[in-house]
Amino acid sequence: MGSLFLIFLLLLLLHLTDGVLVRGSMNTETSFDQNYEVTWGGDHVLSLNQGKEIQLTMDNSSGSGFGSKMAYGSGLFNMMIKVPGRNSAGVVTAYYLTSQGKMHDELDFEFLGNRKGKPYRLQTNVFVDGQGNREQRHRLWFDPTADFHNYKILWNQHQIVFYVDNIPIRVYKNKSNIGVGYPSRAMQIEASLWDAEWATNGGKTKTDWSYAPFKANFKGFDVSGCYVPNSSNNSQHCSSDNYWWNREKFWQLDPVRERQYEHVKHKYMTYDYCADRNRYPETPLECL
Ligand SMILES: *[C@@H]1O[C@H](CO)[C@@H](O)[C@H](O)[C@H]1NC(C)=O
Ligand SMILES: *[C@@H]1O[C@H](CO)[C@@H](O)[C@H](O)[C@H]1NC(C)=O
Ligand SMILES: *[C@@H]1O[C@H](CO)[C@@H](O)[C@H](O)[C@H]1NC(C)=O
Ligand SMILES: *[C@@H]1O[C@H](CO)[C@@H](O)[C@H](O)[C@H]1NC(C)=O
Repeated sequence: MGSLFLIFLLLLLLHLTDGVLVRGSMNTETSFDQNYEVTWGGDHVLSLNQGKEIQLTMDNSSGSGFGSKMAYGSGLFNMMIKVPGRNSAGVVTAYYLTSQGKMHDELDFEFLGNRKGKPYRLQTNVFVDGQGNREQRHRLWFDPTADFHNYKILWNQHQIVFYVDNIPIRVYKNKSNIGVGYPSRAMQIEASLWDAEWATNGGKTKTDWSYAPFKANFKGFDVSGCYVPNSSNNSQHCSSDNYWWNREKFWQLDPVRERQYEHVKHKYMTYDYCADRNRYPETPLECL
């Protein structure tokens, strides 16, 4: 009886802790102002639903963007995003973490718009010490313009994982033991809507301004991150396992998510710098 109860408790606990990853502490009730502020194109930013949702717009005069008030040294960062529909060629919606300065670290989600009827590409990138060029691109298994979906970045000392609706699409491991760079600087959370010449069809398809204004919507403004005062460089405490995203469970993918990741890699990845022998005659170290 006692041991059955223990097993029951254990299962309950597993279920609950799994729920933490599935939902993060995501709370779509948190208002934008609590953790974020407008950083660019203020007259192109619309607050909806009592500040629980934000719409960025872009027209031929400006794009727009927002960022977190705080910087973070680790965390599981969530955002619900709905990207511009219709003809979005040349339009990029970005959700990313970045530190300041030339030698910055950065973790990117970039939604590359497309002509009407053509699917978006989701590009991810990892910068360490100002060095990026680690692009991967994926098709999505849904229409990201039709509804909100959840995009997440886990960042602890062991791995960085990009998730789409809780499915891992990219894993960047800490391989500093073989000399590969790994993000270490405190980063702020940013989002923006902008016009990028290169984004669609290798730059051959330009933005069609007759479809402007372009609109991207965001919600879910709670943050599960380790706060680093921007007046200090001390982010040592951010690797503490007092923060749940640093615990052993989050050091690698579990077998179920590992299988999902392999499936996405085979079925949905359309570009991988690791396999681009024209750019990289030798496989980059972190890809081995
Ligand atoms: C921008 O768009 C507006 C409205 O469509 C148009 O009247 C204006 O001429 C455009 N400006 C430029 C510089 O293209
Ligand atoms: C990467 O992992 C090593 C241990 O292998 C650790 O000492 C280091 O702090 C980690 N780097 C970052 C930036 O978290
Ligand atoms: C910290 O960042 C906030 C928001 O970006 C800024 O207003 C404030 O001046 C910064 N504080 C310091 C000490 O740099
Ligand atoms: C933080 O580090 C940067 C570069 O390492 C340095 O220039 C800056 O003075 C440091 N700031 C503080 C408050 O220690």
